[in-house]
Amino acid sequence: MSSHSASAPALSAQAKANLPVHVAIIMDGNGRWAKERGLPRVEGHRHGVESVRAVVRACGELGIKYLTLYAFSVENWNRPKDEVDTLMKYLARFLKTELGELHRNNVRLEVIGQVYRLPEFVQEQLKKTQAALAKNNGLTLILALSYGGRTEIVEAIRTIAAKVKAGQLEPEEINEQVVAQHLYTRHYPDPDLLIRTSGEMRVSNFLLWQISYTEFVVTPTLWPDFRKPQLYAALEEYTRRHRRFGGV
Ligand code: IPE
Ligand code: IPE
Ligand code: MG
Repeated sequence: MSSHSASAPALSAQAKANLPVHVAIIMDGNGRWAKERGLPRVEGHRHGVESVRAVVRACGELGIKYLTLYAFSVENWNRPKDEVDTLMKYLARFLKTELGELHRNNVRLEVIGQVYRLPEFVQEQLKKTQAALAKNNGLTLILALSYGGRTEIVEAIRTIAAKVKAGQLEPEEINEQVVAQHLYTRHYPDPDLLIRTSGEMRVSNFLLWQISYTEFVVTPTLWPDFRKPQLYAALEEYTRRHRRFGGV
């Protein structure tokens, strides 16, 4: 396979000076990528793993602090069992084979979502990988696994309600900070940039609370074709935006 890095244009000085702290990506289009080639869907997922590798590496090199990857939604459990099984297998394998490079690149691993629903072998691998990378302080890679934005908010409401019932919290004390503190993402800043591949103009239940002022970049590129040049293009696009947060 040829490397893109030799031909990739460098990131502009403006983009370098204006990097997002937190990039989130809806990695979509693996199935269509495979279909275009007359291949089974799982082949798209297999190539998609290569894109994950490339993007994690590129974000680390740039000094981006947080990268959240939407890898598996709560709704994705409704896919055929074969496809789900293969995705889980690729995930565990990725964690195993990438550990060395992730560690060399000072990457830390976090997971958001209903981890308990993942197969035992995936949970084990996640725990091992997280433990091995726990002391790193470069890029924080956040994998959204069995993640649903509405589920996350429901769980937060439940915990907050229980605290009110137990007399630990007054209803009047519930504010945006309190809600944010009960989400899976309590330790991370909100995403600055959300990228969705494959051209779909929807959020598909991703980080609903956290993206209130996030900049969106939708690219027609299918995820298995999304590599460093496409990431750079999204960062350049982000640089051209004027974030106003409701101000003038
Ligand atoms: C994204 O690609 C991967 C996951 C959702 C796990 P898809 O599998 O959704 O591919 P398309 O959207 O069907 O092309
Ligand atoms: C969103 O992609 C979920 C992930 C990328 C993990 P989907 O392919 O599941 O979303 P829809 O069905 O197009 O909304
Ligand atoms: Mg899809």
